[in-house]
Amino acid sequence: MSRKIILDVDTGIDDSLAVLTAAVSIRVDLVGCTTTWGNVDVETATRNTAALLELAEIDGVPVAAGAAGPLNGAAPGYARHVHGDDGQGGHALDLDGVPVSGETAAELIIRLSHEHAGELHLVAVGPLTNLALALEADPTLPERVPEVTIMGGAFGVPGNITPVAEANIIGDPEAAQRVIDAAWSCTFVGLDVTMEHLLTEEHRAQLNAGGEIGRHCGAILDHYFDFYADVTGTRCAANHDALALGVACGKAALGLAPTVRMQIDTTDGPGRGQTIADRRPMYEGWPTPRGARHRIALEVDEGYTDWMVQLLAAA
Ligand code: BDR
Ligand code: CA
Repeated sequence: MSRKIILDVDTGIDDSLAVLTAAVSIRVDLVGCTTTWGNVDVETATRNTAALLELAEIDGVPVAAGAAGPLNGAAPGYARHVHGDDGQGGHALDLDGVPVSGETAAELIIRLSHEHAGELHLVAVGPLTNLALALEADPTLPERVPEVTIMGGAFGVPGNITPVAEANIIGDPEAAQRVIDAAWSCTFVGLDVTMEHLLTEEHRAQLNAGGEIGRHCGAILDHYFDFYADVTGTRCAANHDALALGVACGKAALGLAPTVRMQIDTTDGPGRGQTIADRRPMYEGWPTPRGARHRIALEVDEGYTDWMVQLLAAA
């Protein structure tokens, strides 16, 4: 069974794996891609997304560009040291890309939510600015899109930008708070699980032995591994964004994933961007508190990344 998915991306290396997996997997019916600032500027993210869809030879998936910076008007900060100036670790595809829609990301999300009311799943793997803008433009959106999966947050582990904040959430904490205030159910696939799902040199060798898609993934991961080697001492990388896609399409089965009350720290202090989930119910076996509706992934099926690499290598 395939799931209808809109993927909101700041393409980026790990976003690229998510885009390509969504494009080639029969488990995903990719109905649109929206792009945002984040790892790179929104124009670069859009160009990369369109080129990856062309590489995957997928027709008819609209791509729409969204926010160029966070809701509060602050200057966007990028992660070019992680993803390369081109967001592809210096391996930007020499392809025109599929055509980019004239709609904004928020407009595309709203239009597709009407066309696929009740069956559309939003998967957001960058700062949440586009989702907040879509909610602002149409507060009834959650009535048609009941479920959202977000790569973001750090619930019981350290952040990756500050001691407590993860990149996608600290990118736009005000947007993240608006997203969790809306009447849909979000599943957060945060650093608690993505830092456990590693892409390794064995995976890269498998990708390099594959077709054009696999080889592109192998090339961009080379750059990503360099960054992680500096941080962890090992050439590897977290499979952040594609893991969120895997959870959304049901291929990466959730283990422990309690439904919790949560809020985002939107202050300007050292906690800014922290995803504050109330984990006190853990002492009682995680009963769902009244009114809580957002899940945090604390365990995800270990086999997902192997499956994804095989899929991309064989594509
Ligand atoms: C997240 O931040 C970005 O750099 C990655 O693409 C991922 O979405 C991980 O914190
Ligand atoms: Ca991302």
